[in-house]
Amino acid sequence: CGIVGVAGNICATTILLDGLEKLEYRGYDSSGIYVTNGENGFLCKRQGKIANLREAVGKKQHGTTGIGHTRWATHGAPSQENAHPQVSDSQRFYLVHNGVITNAEDLKERYLKHITFTSQTDTEVIVQLIAYFVEQKQLTTLRSLQAVISLLEGSYAIAMMDRRIPEQIFIAKNKSPLLIGLGDDANYLCSDALAMLPQTQIFMEIKDGETGIISSNEVKLFDEENKAINRSTYQVKIDANDLSKGAYDSYMLKEIDEQPAVLRRIIQTYTNINGDINMSSELIERLIQSDRLYIVAAGTSYHAGLIGKSLFEQLTDIPVEVVLASEFGYHLPKLSAHPFFLFLSQSGETADSRQVLVKIKKQNYPSLTITNVADSTLSREADYTLLLHAGPEIAVASTKAYTAQIAVESLLAKFLGTAKKIEAARQFDVRQELSLAATGMQSMIDEKDYISKLAKKYFYNQRTAFFIGRGNGYYLSLEAALKLKEVSYLHAEGFAAGELKHGTIALIEQDTPVVAFVTEAKTADHTRSNVQEVLSRGAKVLIISQENLVHPNDQLTFPVISELLNPLVAIIPTQLFAYFTAKARGNNVDQPRNLAKSVTVE
Ligand code: G6P
Repeated sequence: CGIVGVAGNICATTILLDGLEKLEYRGYDSSGIYVTNGENGFLCKRQGKIANLREAVGKKQHGTTGIGHTRWATHGAPSQENAHPQVSDSQRFYLVHNGVITNAEDLKERYLKHITFTSQTDTEVIVQLIAYFVEQKQLTTLRSLQAVISLLEGSYAIAMMDRRIPEQIFIAKNKSPLLIGLGDDANYLCSDALAMLPQTQIFMEIKDGETGIISSNEVKLFDEENKAINRSTYQVKIDANDLSKGAYDSYMLKEIDEQPAVLRRIIQTYTNINGDINMSSELIERLIQSDRLYIVAAGTSYHAGLIGKSLFEQLTDIPVEVVLASEFGYHLPKLSAHPFFLFLSQSGETADSRQVLVKIKKQNYPSLTITNVADSTLSREADYTLLLHAGPEIAVASTKAYTAQIAVESLLAKFLGTAKKIEAARQFDVRQELSLAATGMQSMIDEKDYISKLAKKYFYNQRTAFFIGRGNGYYLSLEAALKLKEVSYLHAEGFAAGELKHGTIALIEQDTPVVAFVTEAKTADHTRSNVQEVLSRGAKVLIISQENLVHPNDQLTFPVISELLNPLVAIIPTQLFAYFTAKARGNNVDQPRNLAKSVTVE
């Protein structure tokens, strides 16, 4: 979910709607705003995209202070009633919330039996409870908010307005992201700085457990004991051009196309002409002391972590475990004596990853976040950060962040391995290999027309598809299948090529598409045997191979680069398959159904 707020700007309504559009990547099943001009308040909520809300608000609703929300449903179906702001029975308090309150039912039972609830949301419990404490216990609005959050279990970023104090917005935070933007005559709130960049570049963090009050000329923050806090500000630098689609019909295609340039930017940022790598030597010292690397991530970032495993193991000689954040935090395996935790996250906000970071920090284990978003939660809270420099990734399905993560992992592995005097690292010319990969990516992108024809031939009329490979080819299969599922809604699975015959091959029928990655010399023949197994059962096979492993009838080949980094190139056609298939099916490729780009609930 995404939150916005504006205190003291006559264009508040427009700023809220524009800001929500920027946050649509965080969820888009319903949205709403509450805005006031000091005398009259106006509430509007709609199911569906922000466009629906904008239409319902119309042009006349001017206000100076207000809050807004775009939702990714957790408790309660996506509907107008369950959209935020949620309103107290007294129609006095309006509240938006990002997160999940796990004890909402208990609180309802304990304090609010007399209230008839109008939604199925945990959020309504918060606003009714605040109203109850103000109206029945005579607490001030701020005190009531503080009393209520001390009872809440779970995660929340909250922005709330009190009709009787229309110039102020009350805020609170625990685990879910919330930033304060500071303007000249107005102040702002947002889940992600992107939403308020047209208004300000100066932001202030609010930390877990804190509350605050925002008005046009003042920002007050309080700690858990209600003591005032002084917080410094920071500047966010993002090029506004990065946020527009330009001539593209979708962000997804723009971001696929940007990948060679992103790779070159990463090479320039992290290396110099002599091949020296520019990363913190203190970070490398900490890594050298570790006996095992745990890569923690979710979704596409997890798949980038799997590619990272072979990079780190081969170049640094440190064993690596790649773990799903949502599993790992609650089922901690027996850790090694000196673990080091590497968090991979495009957004730097994923709640599943963050709960692991919170846990390992309590045990004083060292941590690094590799992320695309400077000053994101995972970046602020880990000991070290390496940025992806991929530019904002707006399409929900991740493409350029995946390849950027692999590139940054390779630079870190090279740097660490060289510091450890590992021969394989010394011999690995990472600058050269990444440059070759950038060229290889471009050659695939240049084949877009041909790739769109392949997409048509293999996927448009299918219900299911399989991707197979070995080693990194297997990990690529997982990512390729995920991309196809996310945007085209085809059922797709990635499999280790050799494992297919142990069960899943039962699903192969006449014309079932199977994409095989032949990207690893030592297993190429085996993978081709697995291809024969599915061919003889009727499958329609498409092979993506590296030039030195090519067979005459392979549909797509790419130039030779190190096997450690050829996933950077081999993934490109599969991203395009997903894009073209989704387009042909009339899907919204940038905002696929049911998904959100940054999932800030566990
Ligand atoms: C969401 C997105 C995925 C993404 C995953 C991890 O589920 O829809 O595309 O891979 O979160 O996100 P992160 O920002 O941590 O990389």
